[in-house]
Amino acid sequence: MNKIIISAFAILLSTASNAQEVFSPSSNIKLDFSLSEKGEPQYNVLFNKSEVIKTSTLGLEFTELNLTSNFKISNTKVTKVNKNWVPIWGQESTINDNHNQLKVELVDNNDHKIILYFKVFDEGFAFRDHIPKQKNLDKVIITDENSQFNFTANHKVWWIPGDWDSYEHNYTESKISDIDNTPHLNNAGIAMSMIPDLHSVNTPVTMKTDDDVYIAIHEAALVDYAGMTVSFDTNNYESVSKLVAYHDGAKVKTQTPFNTPWRVVMLSDDAKGLLENRMVLNLNEPNKIEDTSWIEPMLYSGIWWEIHSGLSGFGMESKDGEGNIIPHGATTENAKRYIDWNAEHGIRGLLIEGWNVGWEKWIGDDRDGIFDWVTPYPDYDLEEVAAYAKSKGVLLIGHQETSGDVRNYEKQMHKVYQLFEDNNIHAIKSGYVGTLYPKNTYHHGQVMVNHYLSTAILGAKHKIMIDIHEPIKPTGLSRTYPNLMSAEGFKGQEFNKGGGQPANHTTILPFTRGLAGPMDYTPGVLVNDGWVATNNTIANELALYMIIYSPIQMVADIPDNYKKHPEAFEFIKNVAVDWEVTKILDAEIAEYIVIARKEKGNKERWFIGAVTDENKRDFEIKLDFLEKGETYEATIYKDGKDAHYKKNQTSIEIEKKVVSKNDTLNLKLAQGGGSAIVIEKIK
Ligand code: NOJ
Ligand code: CA
Repeated sequence: MNKIIISAFAILLSTASNAQEVFSPSSNIKLDFSLSEKGEPQYNVLFNKSEVIKTSTLGLEFTELNLTSNFKISNTKVTKVNKNWVPIWGQESTINDNHNQLKVELVDNNDHKIILYFKVFDEGFAFRDHIPKQKNLDKVIITDENSQFNFTANHKVWWIPGDWDSYEHNYTESKISDIDNTPHLNNAGIAMSMIPDLHSVNTPVTMKTDDDVYIAIHEAALVDYAGMTVSFDTNNYESVSKLVAYHDGAKVKTQTPFNTPWRVVMLSDDAKGLLENRMVLNLNEPNKIEDTSWIEPMLYSGIWWEIHSGLSGFGMESKDGEGNIIPHGATTENAKRYIDWNAEHGIRGLLIEGWNVGWEKWIGDDRDGIFDWVTPYPDYDLEEVAAYAKSKGVLLIGHQETSGDVRNYEKQMHKVYQLFEDNNIHAIKSGYVGTLYPKNTYHHGQVMVNHYLSTAILGAKHKIMIDIHEPIKPTGLSRTYPNLMSAEGFKGQEFNKGGGQPANHTTILPFTRGLAGPMDYTPGVLVNDGWVATNNTIANELALYMIIYSPIQMVADIPDNYKKHPEAFEFIKNVAVDWEVTKILDAEIAEYIVIARKEKGNKERWFIGAVTDENKRDFEIKLDFLEKGETYEATIYKDGKDAHYKKNQTSIEIEKKVVSKNDTLNLKLAQGGGSAIVIEKIK
């Protein structure tokens, strides 16, 4: 790991007073820690000298005892860290970790010890508990974690319900006082949902104050613990962490020593700042995979959208809406057709869904033991397809839908990963549709948190990249396991079937779910046929490759549809997926986003994406990030004059012009429109 600057020093405070303060490196954030009269740990935070978090207490409850009060400070220590590190892939080639840490050692009147760590960055703050190994605390069951985040007023919030089984909900924009999950309780659109509390939300949850302060709460390094939701008191604007439970009510079953995940609060005085925030990655451990040469950001196509469009089926006897049998998608012949198409267009990855037996009953009540994850259908020759893909330079993405039958899947996992490695299949897309077997936990509970991570760890052993659908939300673990490429965990493209997402959906995602980590949104759908109904223009769809970050990006539409839009396809084929520099040029939550990204490597190309909600907008983009004295060719894919996200989606114009650092581009985005630009150095 390259470390460019490292400066760390520690100040030891010998006598600990009851109150401690720690500032961010530039002093824009001040965090005060103290003990209440009852000896409860508590903190409050100022951002640009105004209070953003009122006094908020912290405390863990176990079955046998509570670690919530009667504490004394036994020691404190402040440490400064300012270092750069190099991610294997990402939105930039170097990431700066600059923060001040306050460590507070506490002991209660029964001699129980806990250590609190607070890290204060210029972009926000985070804290975690460390429970050391100690005489009278060994195996424990956590029944509640009470980390409070108490806000100063009735902020505007973008939220999804605190569902313990799924994040596939629409974002609501409301005041804190109006957070109410009632409308989400009977969401027929998803296969599993468990919403135990009417005022809890999942993280990342993002807010804006009346004074234009942007706040987002999330967690980092979620390992061997339950996922966190945040429960609001809608009258007082106070909130507290609520962990996802086991069916028996326990939250976390563990043993000392252990850490809680980091509780993260991002702070910014503009919307752009949230998109630039890298705290979640900085709060994770460095890369643990020694040889990363096989980890490859890439574009990928799939025997996938044709299935979701009803043209073919997951299984050999799948039926359409009228009950007629439709062709099987994953046949040897169809796979070879896709491999040829990928090779012709230089698309590296190919996802093949529905190749293994068991799809007949994959949705429904009777899913226990229905899948066999290693046996192909008789019309799919795995070895032959794999050898053909290799000969054409195409990298297969093996698919594993578990249908929530994790108990049986864990018995076969090792075999599957070995089979894939043996056949040069270096990537897996997994799926967890449906309530879980065994019925002892939820998708976001401790058992599944561990399961999801175990797929990445096993993947690292077998040189397999991972893309998880119906996942646990990302918490930055892809820094530690950079084969953890991407994940779903939000409403992606597939929700544009049968109705479509609101036009502002993709202007909300980067500020909410996107703050957690890469999103496998699967952009690139250019043809709407009534059943498929995206609420955007084609230029907007192209811009999503820059707007919605993921190191693996799908070329989601079916090959025949790209024949109808050869120019737009030209853009998609060439778009980069791994970045040296990312510049957020302009952004407002739920309204618009403009991002410029410089491709990693030596191609000297910039890509710009701009998207808007259902309102048309004009932007002036200064190209001052280009190199001085150089000239570039810009190819601009823009909304046609009459483009409109519902009435005229395919109206697109392509303009080429020579530009340099001193130029400004004027972009006119249609309603639900966008612009995608590639700027290439003229050599
Ligand atoms: C849900 C995933 O999100 C989707 O992409 C996949 O095709 C199905 N599960 C089947 O695994
Ligand atoms: Ca899904």
